[in-house]
Amino acid sequence: MDFIPEPAPNLRQLLAFYLEAGVDCTLAEEPIDRLAEPDAPAPVVVARESAPPPPVREMPAATPAVPRSEIAPAPEVAIASAREAARSAPTLEELRALLEKFEGCALRNTATRLVFADGNPKARIMFVGEAPGRDEDIEGLPFVGRSGKLLDRMIAAIGLDRSKAYIANVIPWRPPGNRTPTPQETQICLPFIQRQIELVNPDVLVTLGNPSTQTLLSTREGIMRTRGKWFDYDTGTRTIRAMATFHPAYLLRSPSYKRMSWQDLRAIAKALAVS
Ligand code: URA
Repeated sequence: MDFIPEPAPNLRQLLAFYLEAGVDCTLAEEPIDRLAEPDAPAPVVVARESAPPPPVREMPAATPAVPRSEIAPAPEVAIASAREAARSAPTLEELRALLEKFEGCALRNTATRLVFADGNPKARIMFVGEAPGRDEDIEGLPFVGRSGKLLDRMIAAIGLDRSKAYIANVIPWRPPGNRTPTPQETQICLPFIQRQIELVNPDVLVTLGNPSTQTLLSTREGIMRTRGKWFDYDTGTRTIRAMATFHPAYLLRSPSYKRMSWQDLRAIAKALAVS
């Protein structure tokens, strides 16, 4: 049988392939050849006795494949500087300004903008998700996409709205293509969200989904075990009641868990009523 080669994909097909694979943003204006190596060293020539010595070739200085401004500091350095910066912020405005300037997390280079928070900084209840998605990255506000609409309904179920709640994420920059933040990125951003919680100082903290729950409530248990239970969250200056519940994006995919999430919300409403 004759081998008939596949025609090469055209530009439209290639772009469709990338989109399907989850590539929905570019990282830089120009493509970067990350495989580019400095010139290979000159081949070793086995000289005959009478031949002149081979010319000494100068090695060109290695140029980094990634622009220097995009090279993040070592994680432990970044975590230490995040801790120091977060600790030094006396207000939410200053914390936000510090985050705008913070260069320790490479996610800031690929995100469109910082997504700091939405809602009322004096609210008695604070919700914390994982990281902004595409819609949040565009608008600069947390939970404004489809899962945000469901979060609004969850908040409405306890008789509140965004003017009476404060909403933020553990990670304040969108990871490219909505990939899961790395443990290092999470550790680098952690001091900022911890300080944000301390400054908002809510009566009730609600962690949305597994990553936010495991990071903030220092547990390795999954959301099926942690949801609906009360935890103590220590800000360093006060202990806050904290409850984990399902992430609204998860509820959109698995609506049968909404019933359990309404139970969690009822418990949260009750705690707010008595505290
Ligand atoms: N998912 C999150 O965890 N946070 C957002 O802001 C949006 C979606």
